[in-house]
Amino acid sequence: PKLLEHLTVLKILTFFCLQNMISRETVAASTGHSVVLVDTSEDILKKSAKGIESSLKRVAKKKFAEKPEDGEAFIQKVLKNISTSTDPASVVQGTDLVVDAIVENLKVKQDLFGALDKAAPEHTIFASNTSSLSIADIASSTARLDRFGGLHFFNPVPMMKLVEVIKAPGTSQQTFDALLEFSKALGKHPVSCKDTPGFIVNRLLVPYMLEAVRLHERGHGSKEDIDVAMKLGAGYPMGPFELLDYVGLDTSKFIIDGWHEKDPDNPLFAPSPLLNKLVAEGKLGKKTGEGFYKHK
Ligand SMILES: NC(=O)c1ccc[n+]([C@@H]2O[C@H](COP(=O)([O-])OP(=O)(O)OC[C@H]3O[C@@H](n4cnc5c(N)ncnc54)[C@H](O)[C@@H]3O)[C@@H](O)[C@H]2O)c1
Repeated sequence: PKLLEHLTVLKILTFFCLQNMISRETVAASTGHSVVLVDTSEDILKKSAKGIESSLKRVAKKKFAEKPEDGEAFIQKVLKNISTSTDPASVVQGTDLVVDAIVENLKVKQDLFGALDKAAPEHTIFASNTSSLSIADIASSTARLDRFGGLHFFNPVPMMKLVEVIKAPGTSQQTFDALLEFSKALGKHPVSCKDTPGFIVNRLLVPYMLEAVRLHERGHGSKEDIDVAMKLGAGYPMGPFELLDYVGLDTSKFIIDGWHEKDPDNPLFAPSPLLNKLVAEGKLGKKTGEGFYKHK
């Protein structure tokens, strides 16, 4: 229980990025947690702060449509809970929970946590937001395997209710319970996951998206028809090709290549020539203006 107290009242240190991930620390700050956003340069942090402010404005506009002055007060209150830093080793000294959302690269994550492990207080819990790496592999650079777990959020974070909470073989029950409590305190719905590739959502979603590409490669359907079929026939909000463009083709390729390397005999993890070709051409989806579809 002591651990839980710390989590709900004190700081979270996040390594959040620009892009669309900004909203996660916004959610934490708006639930009364004190958040320090850490990145590699002041420039990136300035852009992130701007992104946080505009994301908050959007939320406030909806939430306080009748009373704009309450909306402004809400924005100011949340912003007061967020500070920024480029010096993780000093920030971590006053932090109860570190959530990493830095680049999806095992070595980079291990280096970061290895260094933080030496600077952080005993009780501090470390968590990674990794989508595809093993939590145990990341944790292996630290001496706090019992205080290390996974917290996997979903974009767009203010909208998506789910958080996958990952219990690695070394994660203590106390740490796992603290991470579940923390997710609930953010207003999210946590599910328990084992430390296996893709946890639950991506383990099902990534092979499904790749299978749609293979179906198309084999000439069984146009991408437009496959997308319409899954939306109208299975009730999915997006078709698999639309989803691939939204997630990013490079990200999807990175995930499948990593799993294929670990488990080369699993046909679900087989690389796709068409996906590889589009990535090689720089067609990465929405973020580059073209993937399977052209985006304005
Ligand atoms: N993009 C998504 O939809 C999504 C969803 C869920 C989880 N994730 C996970 O979140 C993480 C980040 O993904 P992304 O797509 O936002 O990546 P990204 O490359 O867009 O952003 C990474 C950020 O980390 C910063 N950074 C890099 N090294 C750092 C360091 N040593 N210390 C502090 N900051 C550092 C970079 O400057 C950048 O701002 C990955 O682990 C990914 O698997 C991503």
